[in-house]
Amino acid sequence: MPFYPITRFIDGFHQGYFMAMDATEVFSQWALAGKDEGMERGHAPSVSQMLDLVLPKCPDAFEAIDLGCGNGWVVRLLSKLGATHVEGVDGSLEMIEKAKVTDSNGIYSHGLLPDWRPSQKFDLVHSMEFLYYLKDPEEMLAIIHDEWLNDGGFLVAGVDHYAEHEDSLGWPEHVGVHMTTLTIEEWTSAMSKAGFCDIEIHQVAKKEGFPGTLVMLGRASR
Ligand SMILES: C[S@@+](CC[C@H](N)C(=O)[O-])C[C@H]1O[C@@H](n2cnc3c(N)ncnc32)[C@H](O)[C@@H]1O
Repeated sequence: MPFYPITRFIDGFHQGYFMAMDATEVFSQWALAGKDEGMERGHAPSVSQMLDLVLPKCPDAFEAIDLGCGNGWVVRLLSKLGATHVEGVDGSLEMIEKAKVTDSNGIYSHGLLPDWRPSQKFDLVHSMEFLYYLKDPEEMLAIIHDEWLNDGGFLVAGVDHYAEHEDSLGWPEHVGVHMTTLTIEEWTSAMSKAGFCDIEIHQVAKKEGFPGTLVMLGRASR
């Protein structure tokens, strides 16, 4: 069961409505409670398979960014895997502070997406369990395609909350945050509308009762 902001939930009902918290506010509480480490362990099998899918397509010397990087563990992993430049961005100040304490030489920015902009373009944009917190993930995909990626660069993005993962449909209410619920077909169409080509859709790290992390992989072409 994910973190449950019971006080805010009860306040909302006392006032006669349900008030969703900002996802970044919830994840700041997770960082303070040390729950980012469990999240890292939980996401690692999916991220490992996502990187296995995308890294063979990237140039030997590649520059990368992790969106919604949390405590920055994928930034540090990409550095070990040969990225010549790698950075992360997250809207939770506590997550970013934690990343900087763990890795004082790393590049971690506190920024709210989709408004925050990087100061360069990348060969690889990675994102795990971030996109559906946005009201309009399609807009973010188009921004990544048009503004963040080098021509020929790759996006690999994983989501565990999607329409076909029925157990995940209660998460917005349990966690008390907005989540945009799309079907696999809608994610595929969003990638295509954003301009990506050579789109691949995978479900990785499946296990009993879990249909896998839905992975969207695409190449920017302009
Ligand atoms: C489920 S966590 C995943 C963190 C990390 N990718 C991982 O796998 O451990 C989602 C992250 O997205 C961040 N996030 C959510 N909405 C955001 C937004 N609008 N702008 C920036 N970051 C956001 C949260 O602060 C949180 O750290």
